[in-house]
Amino acid sequence: MEPPCFAAVLGSLLEVFGNTHLGRPRVIITIDGPAGTGKSTVAFMLAQRLDLEFLDTGAMYRALTLLVIERGVAPTDATAVSAIAEETDLRFDFGISPPPILVDGRDVGDRIRLDDVTACVSLVAAHPAVREAMVRAQQEIGRAHPRLVTEGRDQGTVVFPDAELKVYLDARPEIRARRRALQLRSKRMPSDEASILRAIIERDRLDSTRATGRMARASDAVLVDTSDLDTDAVVERLVGIARDRLESVLGVASGDGD
Ligand code: DC
Repeated sequence: MEPPCFAAVLGSLLEVFGNTHLGRPRVIITIDGPAGTGKSTVAFMLAQRLDLEFLDTGAMYRALTLLVIERGVAPTDATAVSAIAEETDLRFDFGISPPPILVDGRDVGDRIRLDDVTACVSLVAAHPAVREAMVRAQQEIGRAHPRLVTEGRDQGTVVFPDAELKVYLDARPEIRARRRALQLRSKRMPSDEASILRAIIERDRLDSTRATGRMARASDAVLVDTSDLDTDAVVERLVGIARDRLESVLGVASGDGD
């Protein structure tokens, strides 16, 4: 009997483990920047175009904040908030696209996008022990899902400093407030643009001045100002950059026409 060829053995191993990235090179693309730059939508669409997985790290901080609220803990209470971060099992269901976050197995859906969570998430995210736990969890996800577009505030600077491609999206605050209001309206959620703008400016201030993992552009990140670009145009630009720089590791799925 002929010995099974290497490709066939590898193919069946891949089937057994259901692990489509095995044997393919790592591609981590980080997308950082403030709220309302279109980051989440752009990151998800880019992941789809390049056949990569998608990680929304803001959802992790939001999920923790939801628990803090539900348990009646003050978001400024570093000890109590850090304890919740350490003991909570946060994971994503990567079988669904985009992957929903599960908090101790519970799918919290869009509950984490409501105003009460948005209002104190920056306070929760500022605690160094919280950030340490989240960074660790995100790096683990990166090891298990090494073909990934990940978006947040510190992905290119702290979590994946050796990412294959780093992007920083920015936009004028007024534009970001309008986009956020439209996004909330489309989900039939409360959306007063003036108060969203005030909240965005305050959240930027907190996110970019905290002691650890502050929102910042990595020195080697590509900067894209999305103020005058629609989502499709931003995605096209990033697909172009990724294909130019990562041609050898992206594989066939990144070719034209997908
Ligand atoms: O992107 P978003 O609005 O869902 O993020 C929610 C908050 O979480 C934001 O105020 C900053 C924080 N965050 C963070 O500190 N680090 C990340 N990697 C992602 C989000």
